[in-house]
Amino acid sequence: MSDVPEPTRRPEWAALVNHRADVLPQPDLRELFDADPSRAQRYVVHVGDLRIDYSKHLVNDETLALLRELAEATDVFGLRDAMFRGERINVTEDRAVLHTALRAPRDAVIEVDGENVVPAVHAVLDRMADFAGRVRSGEWTGHTGKRIRNVVNIGIGGSDLGPAMAYEALRAFTDRSLTFRFVSNVDGADLHEATRDLDPAETLFIVASKTFTTIETITNATSARTWLLKGLGGDEKAVARHFVALSTNAEKVTDFGIDTANMFEFWDWVGGRYSYDSAIGLSLMIAIGPDRFREMLDGFRIVDEHFVNAPAEANAPLLLGLLGVWYNNFLDAQSHAVLPYSHYLSKFTAYLQQLDMESNGKSVDRRGRPVVWQTGPVVWGTPGTNGQHAYYQLIHQGTKLIPADLIGFARPVAELSDELKAQHDLLMANLFAQGQALAFGKTAEEVRAEGVPEEQVPHRTFRGNHPTTTILATELTPSVLGQLIALYEHKVFVQGAVWDIDSFDQWGVELGKVLAKRVEPALTEGADVPGLDPSTAALVAAYRERRK
Ligand code: F6P
Repeated sequence: MSDVPEPTRRPEWAALVNHRADVLPQPDLRELFDADPSRAQRYVVHVGDLRIDYSKHLVNDETLALLRELAEATDVFGLRDAMFRGERINVTEDRAVLHTALRAPRDAVIEVDGENVVPAVHAVLDRMADFAGRVRSGEWTGHTGKRIRNVVNIGIGGSDLGPAMAYEALRAFTDRSLTFRFVSNVDGADLHEATRDLDPAETLFIVASKTFTTIETITNATSARTWLLKGLGGDEKAVARHFVALSTNAEKVTDFGIDTANMFEFWDWVGGRYSYDSAIGLSLMIAIGPDRFREMLDGFRIVDEHFVNAPAEANAPLLLGLLGVWYNNFLDAQSHAVLPYSHYLSKFTAYLQQLDMESNGKSVDRRGRPVVWQTGPVVWGTPGTNGQHAYYQLIHQGTKLIPADLIGFARPVAELSDELKAQHDLLMANLFAQGQALAFGKTAEEVRAEGVPEEQVPHRTFRGNHPTTTILATELTPSVLGQLIALYEHKVFVQGAVWDIDSFDQWGVELGKVLAKRVEPALTEGADVPGLDPSTAALVAAYRERRK
């Protein structure tokens, strides 16, 4: 393993460096389209319901071929196959990486340590479906016999962002008679705002935590239990009707006081940021119902199968991953914007931030050697058209190269009134206009031709050449959401494989956690904390002074 060459030492990497210098020294989208107008048709890939247009990228056929050669040299497909087989590709935690097993069909066989994990996946899905059905029908009641009307998911990171994002995305498919809230922040304000108008007798808490040791979640869950018991007269028995747990850690769930009969299990081969299609999705399943949840899993599976079977030239996650590598490693881009033209995808980019940045924010390779190449980009963005009136100025006329994904749907959700549906064309016109303006800009000649005074011409000129991928689907359905998420999961995978990093650990969040625990007594009790640096010690003192 140690003799694996660093990606930058491979001839395929050098070929891309040369290609950048000699063939595409200043790639220009106007020239690329002039040279080959057919790229508008050729640079499109389909997967499931997604039409993915990558024609507005600073690449030509040769760039794409060289990128695919890099993927082959770095054995992206070999690692992919190892992942799908259940090998322990998360090397630092010595774990299999099998979120793809969460959406495998009932009759699939996927083994971890010689045991087929698929029956257990479906057993949990069936239990979730049964429970979700009982909450939705009113059969599952609270301690006082009242029907559950409110569901509060308590979790953080992957135990929050996935279900919260998907709930927003699929709101149109949710049971509108139920209220859903998602609490993650250890700031007590989060739980306060989530519960202040709720009746404890009608409220179900779902405590979502893979490890069941995450301090934010356990603190919030403890406070939620206090709130519940206070509201219901203190009878401890109420906990069993109002608390369920989603976790891999039965022992800690029991320690917390939740009966394992009310626990929905998942496994250590599911990473937190890859987990919302596991038991972690219980709140979503209650919201949209088991059938819709299964449709979403089918959507994930469409892209899984495509990733495994599609040839390299037509493999959507491979292409998107490699385009990101091109900008990140050969054109010096530092960030990547994800700009969904859908209000329902308001949390989509925040979700992708964890997926991408926690996976690929690494600076040592899989063997622990420091990397001398750039790894994961900063991922950011908010839904269009809001961003257009905020930060798009910088994308259009700033000095940075920011590749972006524009995501849109041909149809608005069915339940909008006709008047609101009519706004959809305007929304999508903005998406298409942005893609065009970003790619082709407006030359000084075009500005002058409009009679703009000469001194203003530079200010009104748009350089263009800002690359975008446009992802278009017919409608934002559960299946399409699953397809989109799997597309990004595998894109992130491809990049991690090329960069030769472990995309499945997250040691980088540990230090802050440990230090927070160490610093807390200094805040609460004024305790002397050994090893506190002078700056932090002064901050703690200032804080204590002000909170008196
Ligand atoms: O932030 C680190 C992390 O481990 C994430 O990867 C994870 O999604 C989150 O904390 C929550 O962890 P848990 O589900 O164990 O509470």
